[in-house]
Amino acid sequence: MPERIFIGVAWPYANGPLHMGHIAGCYLAADIFARYHRLKGNDVLMVSGSDQHGTPITLRAEQDGVSPQEVVDRYHSEFLQSWDRLGISFDLFTTTGTDNHREVVQDIFLSLQDKGYIYTDTTPLPYCHTCRRFLPDRYVKGTCPHCSNPDGRGDQCDQCGKPLNPEDLIDIRCRISGDAPEIRDSEHFFLKLSSFQEQLLSWVKEQRHWRPNVLNFTQRYLEDGLKDRAISRDLEWGVPLPVPGYDGKRIYVWFEAVIGYLSASKEWAALHGQPDAWEPFWGGDTRGYYFIGKDNIPFHTIIWPAMLAGYGGLDLPYDVPANEFLNLEGRQLSTSRNWAVWVPDYLERFEPDPLRYYISATMPETSDSDFSWRDFVRRNNDELVATFGNLVHRVLTLTHRSFQGRVPQPGELEDASREMLSKAQQAFSAVDDSLHACHFRAALGHAMSLAQEANRYIDQREPWRTARNDPAATANTLWVLLSVINCLKTLLNPFLPFSSEKLHALLGFPGDATGKGWSWDHSLESMPPGQELPAPAPLFSKLDDDVATAELARLGQESA
Ligand code: MF3
Ligand code: ZN
Repeated sequence: MPERIFIGVAWPYANGPLHMGHIAGCYLAADIFARYHRLKGNDVLMVSGSDQHGTPITLRAEQDGVSPQEVVDRYHSEFLQSWDRLGISFDLFTTTGTDNHREVVQDIFLSLQDKGYIYTDTTPLPYCHTCRRFLPDRYVKGTCPHCSNPDGRGDQCDQCGKPLNPEDLIDIRCRISGDAPEIRDSEHFFLKLSSFQEQLLSWVKEQRHWRPNVLNFTQRYLEDGLKDRAISRDLEWGVPLPVPGYDGKRIYVWFEAVIGYLSASKEWAALHGQPDAWEPFWGGDTRGYYFIGKDNIPFHTIIWPAMLAGYGGLDLPYDVPANEFLNLEGRQLSTSRNWAVWVPDYLERFEPDPLRYYISATMPETSDSDFSWRDFVRRNNDELVATFGNLVHRVLTLTHRSFQGRVPQPGELEDASREMLSKAQQAFSAVDDSLHACHFRAALGHAMSLAQEANRYIDQREPWRTARNDPAATANTLWVLLSVINCLKTLLNPFLPFSSEKLHALLGFPGDATGKGWSWDHSLESMPPGQELPAPAPLFSKLDDDVATAELARLGQESA
């Protein structure tokens, strides 16, 4: 029975280009997971979209002197291009700007209001006399009351990760004028989070499979006590409130963005001509995974589950495998200081798979990790090129030289050869278990260890030497190696989809590398003797160390 897997991935603000922090934070892990489950024959729905509302967008538009719509259009189409070129295989990547999204959000809003989970109240909010407006979220800055970070924002503190309200900030300032705002009363809508405290606490206690950082953060947050949160803002950019009389206000971006998971599922179903096809992904025995960066944890383990529980009838998340942060050359990423590696820049100069490999190998799953250009070049050369690429190249060229480019017919296999095949089989289940548990680094490690084993096997069997006087032994060695390489093609497919396709063709197979699914058998059928192999071509290219020097020089420079 195929399993049903829903994969929601954080919605990036469409206010700037994607960078490696995004990719390492959630997009690559989500894609590996989706590809793995599709290979296994499971039903996968992976959705996300551009988060196009809120003050991150309006601030950017004001800064650039363009409309918010122009900002989001530009970056949304850039995002689509990046996913395509990086191989991030969404079933749908939409935006929060669609009519469908507005309708789904307003429906949830009204239903929660109807059930008494949304109410109006007046709340003290910062009002800037110079700008003559209320200042939502990122329009204010001040000191975080929890961790004393002096650069706290009105929506969240970047240092301790706690969501904030503007009035929580100490020594609050308007980000535009720099003035201290007056605190005035304003009427807003509130989500009654407090009434979900007990329910969420017992739900969270059951989530033993969550990563420790996710579980601990959520539990501590809940134990501090859930407070009701304002879910409207004084803004003209965003989803309108479905209640008359609130023209100058919009629904808070975080309240509506998380609903994107549901609205995108509905949009996907409608696009496929089966408007109800979203339903099985939101109930029954489906498992819902939400891939996000650690700064988004409370929104996905508390606020979204509370909204879902209040609305009723839809599944709460099964897992929220949040990654930690990716630093760059030992320092925290900073987009404003251009201390970042931008995805479109990378793709202009390099192939996608070396990046997918490097970020998988250094994925910040359990602690922050570091992107370093010298390490990128080293791993590309030592691991992709030397360990995996050379193995493939040696085996293919030897097969051409000794067997006229046809898969040889093996005879009875020696112990060493049988052992090699059984190691491949063990690697298969090790990678399977690791991917199933969202342990991506470990999964890649198991696959690469198999490539190392295959290198030891070829060195020990010396098929270039036996080719001179022992064709039977040579045929066994090369057939076993071709078979192991065919196994690696599948094991590495979720990580290196482009190279896996190339390799599939180099092994003489028609169709797609994913055609046989997540399976490998070491019978003659899986690597048929006599199959013709095309001319060998390298899978990966070596990078010169100058590449790292040039990339390092770009960091921190003013961009054009
Ligand atoms: N736009 C938010 C960010 O970049 C993430 C939103 S995730 C969502 O931090 F689920 F709320 F959409
Ligand atoms: Zn803080």
